[in-house]
Amino acid sequence: MDDKKVIFSGIQPSSQALTLGNYIGAVNNWLKFQDEYNCIYSVVDLHSITVRQNPSELRARSLSFLAQYIACGLDPNKNIMFYQSHVPQHAELAWVLNCITYVGELSRMTQFKDKSRKHADNINMGLMDYPVLMAADILLYKTSLVPIGTDQKQHVEMARNIAMRFNNVYGDTFIVPEPFMAKSGAKIYSLQAPTQKMSKSDENENAVVYITDEPDAIMRKFKRAVTDSDNRIVYDEVNKPGISNLINIYAVMTGKTVRETEIEFEGKGYGEFKIKTGEAVVERLADFREKYKRITSDKTYVEQVAKEGADKARCLASKTLDKVYRKVGFVQMSK
Ligand code: TRP
Repeated sequence: MDDKKVIFSGIQPSSQALTLGNYIGAVNNWLKFQDEYNCIYSVVDLHSITVRQNPSELRARSLSFLAQYIACGLDPNKNIMFYQSHVPQHAELAWVLNCITYVGELSRMTQFKDKSRKHADNINMGLMDYPVLMAADILLYKTSLVPIGTDQKQHVEMARNIAMRFNNVYGDTFIVPEPFMAKSGAKIYSLQAPTQKMSKSDENENAVVYITDEPDAIMRKFKRAVTDSDNRIVYDEVNKPGISNLINIYAVMTGKTVRETEIEFEGKGYGEFKIKTGEAVVERLADFREKYKRITSDKTYVEQVAKEGADKARCLASKTLDKVYRKVGFVQMSK
């Protein structure tokens, strides 16, 4: 690779499709990096099985996720895209990093505590080890920047700590990565409970917009979005979380600022604003819908992208892993 800095990020294929939250908080930003950085995006299927998955669904979703990455506009010639499970170095590095990570610090992670509560019947080792695997994802590629939503900040912090600790013990090995969080729209909330993250686990099907939703479904969900009763379209996260969420969505989807959006809808009612927001989403995703149909009609294309992506990723990852194995004292064969 050239001397561009490396960006790494990933999304778990554990929802039926990318949510509008994934799109705005992640993929939409990834698009902006593709020329200035060496970007590596993974469908992190190893992470997904920390929560019980239906195998055939996981496979179908994983195939669809990569197609969605591409259909969103990520160019396979500019970005390395691959399945985490196709690059064994992720699990191998995670093992080594496990040996310098403490049970105590992992048990205190917010997401581990949340997921343990939610899946009390399946608090498995993988769930606890999730941040270490994520650190391995990041550190394998000499990553400088990790674009994430705010909920993943603690995990990147952990990756930084692990990198520094390893460097201290074994000498300079890893680049210590920085988190990158977009200023606005970093977090999109449920359309039905706008103080909670838009998440596929929401029981109310109107709460979550998937980018694969048909236009009429998108419009229905926005028309039913929960707001307050004051009927003024102004940004106020504390007192008007529903409207603020819609303003964020509208602004990102149209490329306008929050302020421009407020001005545009001054004196207008919520009903109209909800429809306009739905329309903005439908319109912005028009390209995606068309491309997604085309890509999914040719399964070999996605497979080809996945294969080439994994080949490149393996090549980069094995260099880092070799170095790590040497540093910790494993025997190296003279070739
Ligand atoms: N934990 C991330 C999430 O749920 C997904 C993820 C896995 C990731 N490995 C990563 C994100 C490495 C950034 C970098 O959103």
